[in-house]
Amino acid sequence: MFQGVDHIGVGVGDLDAALGFYGGIGFSQVLFDYTGEVPGSELFGPSRRRARVAMIANPSATPVGPARLKLVQVLDGDGPPPAPAGQGWGEIGVCEICLHVRGVQAVHDRLVAELGARSLMAPLSGSVMPNDVSLDIAYVADPWGGKIEMIEWTGLWRSLPGPPRAEGVNHVAFGVADVARSRRFYERLGFGELLFESTEFFEPMAGWYDRDLPGQHMIMTMAAQGAGIEPCRLTPLGPDCRGEWGRLGPMEFAVGVSSLASALRELAAQGVQVLGEPRLLEVGGGEWRYAYLAEPDGNYVSLVEARY
Ligand SMILES: [Fe+2]
Repeated sequence: MFQGVDHIGVGVGDLDAALGFYGGIGFSQVLFDYTGEVPGSELFGPSRRRARVAMIANPSATPVGPARLKLVQVLDGDGPPPAPAGQGWGEIGVCEICLHVRGVQAVHDRLVAELGARSLMAPLSGSVMPNDVSLDIAYVADPWGGKIEMIEWTGLWRSLPGPPRAEGVNHVAFGVADVARSRRFYERLGFGELLFESTEFFEPMAGWYDRDLPGQHMIMTMAAQGAGIEPCRLTPLGPDCRGEWGRLGPMEFAVGVSSLASALRELAAQGVQVLGEPRLLEVGGGEWRYAYLAEPDGNYVSLVEARY
């Protein structure tokens, strides 16, 4: 029933420019492009926001990078709220999208040279425990500062043949206050397999914090389908970086379900609370059904049944 991470919501300053940027990365398929009130956004702020929302997919996506992106440009008030102050990486709140790519070095260099992305971490190779899975990674920032990780799981999956390219979303990272509590919560949403666990500070991120370097405890868990999750606990915790809904940068994500109604029934039986009502929007000839969940740290997380 639960199908892993379906999409990550990313706040942008200009949706047309964002379609150009993320289209250049390969997310060229626009599943819907909606402008209007966004039901559910009132759960995370003083009032319901009006926004332009585009759900985009990468036709090169494979099972190891299957998720989509939801670009959000808040239109009312003063426009998109700013990115949270003090966000290095791993504070409470969504902090990155991670794309699966073939050829990390080549894709990183092309994003910087041709799309105007800013390099945040030069490409490097490593491996993660406990299963010694090797990987290549790099980070760039999108035009509004949102962090984009690129990963090739060389010890897990070497991609389909072909030229260097970014594929779909592999995982989402977000900060939590208690890794064990979050792991239990997301196990109920289908994230049962541990890919790695690390308690060492990831040194290439040292320049991202505007304060003394925190300790980092991160895990990544996967469902059988969809993208994975990467909860991280910082010590000390650092500022609350959830920000307002729709703020610039990666700010929310959704877990795919085959049926929203039966997923909500199952979660209710397990004591998982839904925030407000399930929502239904008509979008471009299809239906967008979703419901926000009471996540342990108040991160913006929904279930989505995609009929578009
Ligand atoms: Fe990551």
